[in-house]
This record gives sequence, structure tokens and C-alpha cells, in this order.
Amino acid sequence: MVELVAEASQANDDAEVRPLKRTLSALNLVALGVGGIIGAGIFVLTGHAAAENAGPAVTLSFLLGAVACAFAGLCYAEMASSVPISGSAYTYAYATLGELVAWIIGWDLTLEYAVGAITVAIGWSGYVVSFARDFGLNIPTQFALSPLIYDSSHHAWSATGAIVNAPAVAVIICITWLLVIGIRESARFNNLIVAVKLTVIFLFIIFAAPHFNTSNWVTAANPEGRFIPPNAGDSIYGWSGVLRGAAVVFFAYIGFDAVSTTAQEAKDPNRDMPIGILGSLVICTILYVAVGFVLTGIVAFDRLNVPDPIAVGIDAAGIGWLGPLVKLGIVFGLTSVLLVLLLGQSRIFRAMAYDGLLPPAAAKIHRRFRTPYVSTVGSGVVVAVLAGLLPIGIVGELVSIGTLFAFAVVSIGTLVLRIVDPALHRPFRAPAIWIVGPAGAATSVLLMLGLPIDTWLRLAIWLVIGLVIYFTYGTKHSRLAQAG
Ligand code: ALA
Repeated sequence: MVELVAEASQANDDAEVRPLKRTLSALNLVALGVGGIIGAGIFVLTGHAAAENAGPAVTLSFLLGAVACAFAGLCYAEMASSVPISGSAYTYAYATLGELVAWIIGWDLTLEYAVGAITVAIGWSGYVVSFARDFGLNIPTQFALSPLIYDSSHHAWSATGAIVNAPAVAVIICITWLLVIGIRESARFNNLIVAVKLTVIFLFIIFAAPHFNTSNWVTAANPEGRFIPPNAGDSIYGWSGVLRGAAVVFFAYIGFDAVSTTAQEAKDPNRDMPIGILGSLVICTILYVAVGFVLTGIVAFDRLNVPDPIAVGIDAAGIGWLGPLVKLGIVFGLTSVLLVLLLGQSRIFRAMAYDGLLPPAAAKIHRRFRTPYVSTVGSGVVVAVLAGLLPIGIVGELVSIGTLFAFAVVSIGTLVLRIVDPALHRPFRAPAIWIVGPAGAATSVLLMLGLPIDTWLRLAIWLVIGLVIYFTYGTKHSRLAQAG
């Protein structure tokens, strides 16, 4: 996948429309989607959502998240196929919806990519620490946890006693370095990683399922052992908890939009795009529901608010021998997601700088490595610092709300574009756009409503900062402003 993104950015580098080779089959697209999707969402946030919000009904949360993604995914595919250069939602918006909307989406995508990378790095750290422990190597907690924790019911930060999450910082530094010197992941490598991730999930399901017991649904908060534990206020369990859980685990689906970025490389986009997007979504949904169901059936859900919930489940089920293998697979899988997220972030910043919306330095390409090193190092440093300091729950929610916001804008934007430019050539057209577009926006907003007010505030503050930058810098320096 990285190779494809790198090619796309190459097309942007030359700022010309260059036909890409149509080589990807429907199966390739599904593999691409699954490779980009499976990551910290299923391996880490499932535990957080089950413990704090949904209990065993985290499986319903996964289903709800999938519905929102399916609608928005079809709109992404149409947008991607209509815009002659591959890239992110920023690129499509720039070409079709104008500079301001593009800026808002580009700025918002930082939450998906950079904050997404922070989230995955924290998850990566959790599994590395757990893996090291299996071999008798104890990384002291002061250097393996975030120093801060946020209590959303009391709206208060407190200290954990830790100093920094060092493994999370270290992995970001390494990946930033790899991206600067120009790593290119091949399609074969992507397939290998997909195979590793799927193997890990199948091993977990096969060996853990026999230990499933609904007695694990019984906890202090759920004495009757219900599938949906009784509501305890403020989106803690009950249906509001299922909705909040859906907004949290929605993170697990992020990445399928990567499939839509290859619309011009698909052999038969009209047929293969929906197969690629919906196919990878269906596969991931089935796997996620199965993992969520098995996990909450082998260990009490109130024990799962940890950085390595799958490992906790494996130990509780008495199949500890499987632990090291599964953890190693997860570490590999998360590394590839990190690579994709950080690569995407640097390319988006570069594209925004190229369009004059960010300072020109961010568009600089390294003379020898031919990579956008300034935007890569810049985003890497910020992501590394924050990954070392912040707790996973808070950043995960921010990623979800930011991405859902982008989904809502793209869904409406696709419909608007049909109205204002009906003649535009669209190799792929979303079916029933009058239903799919509004439904994509509505389901995204519904999931956003499941998130706490604090997360909304953070999104609002982030967007306001973005608008201030746009009106003080972008409007004066943009290519459009210069040309006009
Ligand atoms: N979907 C990706 C993950 O879960 C971002 O890590």
C-alpha cells in the first residue's frame, strides 16, 4: 500500500495528470483494505470500549461502526475515481469542492493520520512491553506508560506516576527515519503483513473460543450477566454505551479509505471498487465481531481496559503459550499501520504546502532521498512527543471524531458535486447517491454524537485553530490567491 501512496505522491510531485497503470484486481483491493484496516482498533481499543462503554455488546458497537463506514466508503470511492490524481480526501476536495473545504478536510485529516499514529504507537508499546515480559525482560512502568490519564466522567487529568511511554516514542522515531530515507513497501510485503494479521486473529479465535463462557459477562457492574450491561450513566453501558463504544471502535475501520485512493489503478473500477471497499469492510466486520465476542466471553470485560487486552484474554483462558506468537504478530501488524499513517500525514502536509496553504518548507523534497523530509520529520517529532505523553483512550476518541467529520463532509460533498457538476466523468458512481450520501453523513454524525462533549470541544478547538491559520496565512499565500 505504501508503494501505491508513494506513487500517488509522485504524481502530485510532478503536478501533472499522468495515467496510472490499471493493474489491481478486486482481490488485490480487498487485501489492500484488510492490510490497512486491521490494527490498534481491534487489538487495543476493543478492550477499552468493552470495559468502559459496551461490555460484551462491543460486538454491536462493531456492527454499528461498519454501517457508517459502508455508506461513506461508497462516496469516497466515487470521489476518488472522479479526481484525476490519486491521494487523500484533501486532494479530492481541493480538486472538486474548493480551497476552503479542502483546507478544512486537510487540517481535520491530521486527526486521522497524525493522532491515529499516536494511538497506534501507544498500542504498539503495550504489546512490546507485554512481549518483552514473556521473555523475562521487564520494562519499568515509569518508562512504558503515559504520565497522564484523563477521567472523562470527572473531566479531570491526573498523573499516573510514569515519566514517558518510551517504546511509543522510539517506534515513531524509527519509522520517521525509515520514511525519510525512502522506504518502499512492496505489494508482496503488504500481502505478508495481511497474512500475519489474519493468522493472529484466526489463532486467537480458534484457541480461545472453546473457553467461552457467559459467566464472564457477570461483573460488579453487570450482576445479572446481561449481554448489554445496565446503563450506569454518561454512556457507561446500556444503549448509550453501545453507541459510545461504536464511536471508539470505529477507529478499527479507519484505513479502508486507502482502497478508494487507488481508484485509477483498478482494472475495472466500476465493478472492483465497491468489491474492494465493501469486501474488506465485510471481512473486517466479521473478524471484529468474532474477536469482540470471544474476548468478552473468556475474560470479564472490566479487566480489559489495558494496553494489551488480547494478551489479558489469552492468559485468562489459560492458553498463555499462544501469547508470545500472537503478540509478535500484533507488533508486526501495528508497525505497518504506523508506516502507512505517518506516510499519509507527511504527504498530506506536503500537498497542502504545495498548494500554498502551509509554508513552502513543508513541501521540500530531499535532494538525495527524494522524500518530503521536512514534513516527515516535522510530523514525526510532534507525534513522537505526544505518543510519549498521552493516554490511548483520549487520542483514540479524537481520531474517531476527526475521521467521522471527514466522512460526513465527503459524503455530502459527493452529493453536492453530482448536483453542481453532473457531467463530470465518474468511472465509479455510488449507487442511490440520494440515499447513500445523506445516510453516510447521518451515520457519521450519529457516531460523533456518541462521543463525549470534551472530545467535541477538542475537535472544535482544532478546527478553529485551522481556520485562523487559513485566514491569516492560507488566503494570502495560496496558489489560487497568487494566481488571482
Ligand atoms: N484501523 C487502524 C487500526 O485499527 C487505524 O489501527
